[in-house]
Amino acid sequence: MSEELKDLPGPWGIPVFGSLLSLTTFKEKTLMKWAEENYGPVFVVRMGSANVVVLNGYEAIQEAMCSKAQVHSGRFEALMFDVYREDRGLFFKQYDHVWEKWRKFAHDGLEHVWETLKITRFLDRVKENRNKFGIKLLGLVDERMDEQRKSQDLVTYFYRGNQQPNAEEREGLAFVLADLIQAGTTTSTAQFLWVLLFLLKNPDSMTRLQEELDTVLSDCDDPVESAITQKYDELNFSRAVLEETFRMRPVAPTGLLHQTLNDTSVMGFKIPQNSAVMPNLWSVHHDKHHWSPDPEVFRPERHLDESGSFKKSNHVVPFGLGWRSCVGPKLVHLNLFAHMVNIFHYYDVKLSPNDVNIDMAGISTTLLNPPPFKVTFNPRRKV
Ligand code: HEM
Repeated sequence: MSEELKDLPGPWGIPVFGSLLSLTTFKEKTLMKWAEENYGPVFVVRMGSANVVVLNGYEAIQEAMCSKAQVHSGRFEALMFDVYREDRGLFFKQYDHVWEKWRKFAHDGLEHVWETLKITRFLDRVKENRNKFGIKLLGLVDERMDEQRKSQDLVTYFYRGNQQPNAEEREGLAFVLADLIQAGTTTSTAQFLWVLLFLLKNPDSMTRLQEELDTVLSDCDDPVESAITQKYDELNFSRAVLEETFRMRPVAPTGLLHQTLNDTSVMGFKIPQNSAVMPNLWSVHHDKHHWSPDPEVFRPERHLDESGSFKKSNHVVPFGLGWRSCVGPKLVHLNLFAHMVNIFHYYDVKLSPNDVNIDMAGISTTLLNPPPFKVTFNPRRKV
């Protein structure tokens, strides 16, 4: 362990595996507990062969990822991914000008296509390929190039800015697309299932949501489209439901590992260059003081002001903070909101009697997934 890391507080893990055994499941909760009860907001934990600096609470994460973004925007080497990635793609790409270029492409590209929703079609089409990285996707890139350039998807967007990409650029695009598909599909699905489950387990919230949809969307020809466009600002409670679900169960509760590019410090604790840094987003969402008195209760009303308008909180950060934060939030909000409205405007949904006592803690491994559950749908108006 680097001399400077030795100065940081942290548990004495079992040699070789370190604290990994205590962290195999729900590591976000264990790490937050350790921060609260033992070590404070910045401490070090041995996970397998790596020492990881864990940041807990909004203040520490904000200081590292925003105020000191440049130093914290590296990615900690993930060997198992690097075997085929070789520093390509976006997720595990080191911080450099190539990452900057692809990040801008992904950000602007998603911005460009999100209104047309074409990305959904695109993601659907290539979902089956998501485990066959590289070669399959490269084929897809070529195939899409041959189609006329009238559609609005990301590949078309890429070729619009670069009519004659060389082999390296085409390969780069394939890996970035692979990352976007991987990043976008499993996370969004898990997050949507949490929305569904929290509403099913909280019938009062479900009734209030449906009443709001009935009132605000009553005169709309296409209620779902209106909900994500001109009526969006009026759907305060619906937005609060989504926000509260993100808070209660962020599907990537400890984000991805960052790496420090220089010696630095967070909240006065020294952190040397090349350290792995983990932002424990869960600890922001479940901060006892900020969400007092009931951080563990699903209560969308906490995101409404006295007049009933939705209020955004800086303590709901499911996409991380700073330069390496997720590129998908806008798309995710749009997608989840559209699906939520689509289901609850048109159907009454019920949890199967076998699942009424479902474990709401979920299953926490790489992602925080809800357990499987069954529902019944009954139409509440003509579809
Ligand atoms: C509920 C859905 C999602 C959640 C909760 C989520 C959350 C996150 C988090 C926590 C990170 C790590 C941030 C950090 O390192 O500090 C991340 C990174 C990333 N996400 Fe998402 N994500 C979601 C959906 C998506 C979607 C739909 C896309 C794209 C279509 C996407 C693309 C990415 C990419 C490319 C990165 C890596 C960014 C970089 O390293 O520069 N994510 N996401």
